[in-house]
Amino acid sequence: MNKRGLSRRDFMRGTAGAAGVTLAAGSILLEPAELAASARSVPPSERVRFGIIGIGMQGAGLLRTAISLPGVECVAACDLYDGRREVAREIVGKEIPTTRRDQELLDNKVIDCIVAAVPDHWHRQIVIDCCNASKDVYCEKPMTHAVSEGFEMIAAEQKNKRIVQVGSQRTTSVIYNKAKELMAKGAIGDVCLVEAWMGRNEPSGAWQYAVPPDLSPQNLDWDTWLGTAPKVPFNPLHYQRWRCWMAYGSGVAGDLFVHLLTGIHHIAGLTAPPKRALSSGGLYRFKDGRDVPDVLATVYDYPNFQVFMRVTLNTETPEITRFMGTRGMLEIADNVLTHTTQEGLDHGPSFLSYTWPKKLRDEYLANWRKEHPVEAGIKTTVESASYHAPPDYNETREHLWNFFDAVRTRRPVVEDASFGNNTSIACHMANQSYFKNTAAVWDAAAKTIKG
Ligand SMILES: NC(=O)c1ccc[n+]([C@@H]2O[C@H](COP(=O)([O-])OP(=O)(O)OC[C@H]3O[C@@H](n4cnc5c(N)ncnc54)[C@H](O)[C@@H]3O)[C@@H](O)[C@H]2O)c1
Repeated sequence: MNKRGLSRRDFMRGTAGAAGVTLAAGSILLEPAELAASARSVPPSERVRFGIIGIGMQGAGLLRTAISLPGVECVAACDLYDGRREVAREIVGKEIPTTRRDQELLDNKVIDCIVAAVPDHWHRQIVIDCCNASKDVYCEKPMTHAVSEGFEMIAAEQKNKRIVQVGSQRTTSVIYNKAKELMAKGAIGDVCLVEAWMGRNEPSGAWQYAVPPDLSPQNLDWDTWLGTAPKVPFNPLHYQRWRCWMAYGSGVAGDLFVHLLTGIHHIAGLTAPPKRALSSGGLYRFKDGRDVPDVLATVYDYPNFQVFMRVTLNTETPEITRFMGTRGMLEIADNVLTHTTQEGLDHGPSFLSYTWPKKLRDEYLANWRKEHPVEAGIKTTVESASYHAPPDYNETREHLWNFFDAVRTRRPVVEDASFGNNTSIACHMANQSYFKNTAAVWDAAAKTIKG
């Protein structure tokens, strides 16, 4: 507001003549092509037979969804905890061979591919073993637990010509694909800034999961579960709440940033990790022995734009990803994409002319109006369209379908090991910056994080 009570906005309104801005809005329901395709029947000769490794929180859901897909059959299940193998049999609804030893699934010639939903510290070994055993593999996110692992996994994928699909399902989402299409068309111009955040506020959202009451070293192969992690005595909390410790998981970044990063990399078509990450955060509430923060905020530098990302486990907030461009914004809020246009043009003469002597100002204003005739003048409609997923939309179902279809057709998947590696590196950069209290810089030539 200036001395005479005239704000910049008032001034523009007063001087823009007939160039008022109107708002046009549309609401569009998206139709997922993959989902429609999955409704077709698959001849028995094209059935895909899979084995599942890890039937915990995510694995149980993946199993239930996968067996609902046409032409997809679960023929074996592996888990180190006996109770989870029982769960697999309950979900499949018939007797299938189950084992504690993943090698038995890899040796089984009937099995075309593996779905693996094990903690992060097991991803590398299982993906590499699957590829070397000529099995395609769907591996949960984040693809890696350490930077070096990703390059080994890509090498195994490529050397064995295997399909590797990483399980952060946004690459298949109809909403994220619409945003990607709009971005590619230049719908919001040049993007200089992206912000993405989410927040939770309940103990289970902060990984304080209930431990199975009967869990013991008798029904769980604890030594194998530890894998490459430091050897510690049987600890039920480590088993069920592994996300709380860097020895097994990757904290807020690997668990949650990875979803936001997947969306951003997919929409923007990014094929490399960020150049630099700078994190800040802390452990404010869940002081239960964990060694990871419950609030993390990271600023990423990508070649053409910055990303501001933050997650809190201490307050429920909407989940938002917002691309900000020179010609408008794309905002994904949960399952709705909103596209709003901006012209990036002045709608009125310069506000500064108000500070000029009257004669100069009048001359300038008259000229400005001559140069911006309303008839031929600047476009004055701000458009807004919102895109919605169907009410029962399940992007994980589509993501699994994309994998099984690729196993059958050998077409590339939407989220291969290279994609998964890039988003995982971004998670590791966020963690490294936080834990080392310095900027983390990606050294592409050395394939390491510096700083
Ligand atoms: N895509 C998503 O939206 C999503 C959601 C949740 C979890 N996840 C991912 O899924 C993975 C599993 O998470 P979770 O919450 O289901 O964990 P969980 O601990 O509930 O389940 C993991 C299961 O794997 C078994 N297991 C561990 N190591 C094994 C091995 N070497 N061989 C056989 N079985 C083994 C465990 O006994 C357990 O039953 C993680 O990578 C996680 O990040 C992804």
